[in-house]
Amino acid sequence: MQVTLKIFRYDPEKDKKPHYETYRVEAEPTDRVLDLLEHIKGYYDGTLSFRRSCAHGICGSDAMRINGRNRLACKVLVKDLGTNKITVEPLLGLPVVKDLIVDMEPFFEHYRSVMPYFVNDEPPPERERLQTPEERERFDDTTKCILCAACTTSCPSFWANENYAGPAAIVTAHRFIFDSRDRAGAERLKILDDQFGVYRCHTIFNCTDACPRDIQVTKAIGEVKKAILTGKIE
Ligand code: SF4
Ligand code: FES
Repeated sequence: MQVTLKIFRYDPEKDKKPHYETYRVEAEPTDRVLDLLEHIKGYYDGTLSFRRSCAHGICGSDAMRINGRNRLACKVLVKDLGTNKITVEPLLGLPVVKDLIVDMEPFFEHYRSVMPYFVNDEPPPERERLQTPEERERFDDTTKCILCAACTTSCPSFWANENYAGPAAIVTAHRFIFDSRDRAGAERLKILDDQFGVYRCHTIFNCTDACPRDIQVTKAIGEVKKAILTGKIE
């Protein structure tokens, strides 16, 4: 089948402002959007810039807007789009570095702000720090995050104010707050009990819709909110 791709292009070293370029390519219905971008880069225009690494939905580096929705280009098949016209644009809310590449540093700054690491200064036991299957299950969903930024950059509250920690940072905080072995939950709740913390979430659910790992992002944010309001991590 013939597919028409309209791709956002911007090279700050050459272009005064962004523009779109259109490419017509032959594609299989089972091709992924990433395959088409690779084809265009390989055969039409080697200057087309985008991030990708694993090509299998694991590394989180090829999040972009595909027909207006945040998706991983390596997880979207042409046949799933229901059209042979595909518009590809960079994520919203982060500065564009070139074409489909955005500057992820503001995103990672929020990530770092919630202490995204295990904290426990108690002397380690002889073997591992034990946890029941139920305790592990409590935060299982949020361990699946691959930091692709699809949630945070689909959030109108983040678009409105870049200081908002954003869904991904809260998902990361959730992963540690509800881990029974961690001891810094209260500290993380204090960080997110802030004008740029959890209260910026207005349960719009864009984040949940965008997450390629099917994480219940809005639910996780709600659980962190509840822990702050009740003072209980349970
Ligand atoms: S929660 Fe989902 S959408 Fe957000 S960064 Fe993690 S994997 Fe990506
Ligand atoms: S290239 Fe790694 S998630 Fe798509």
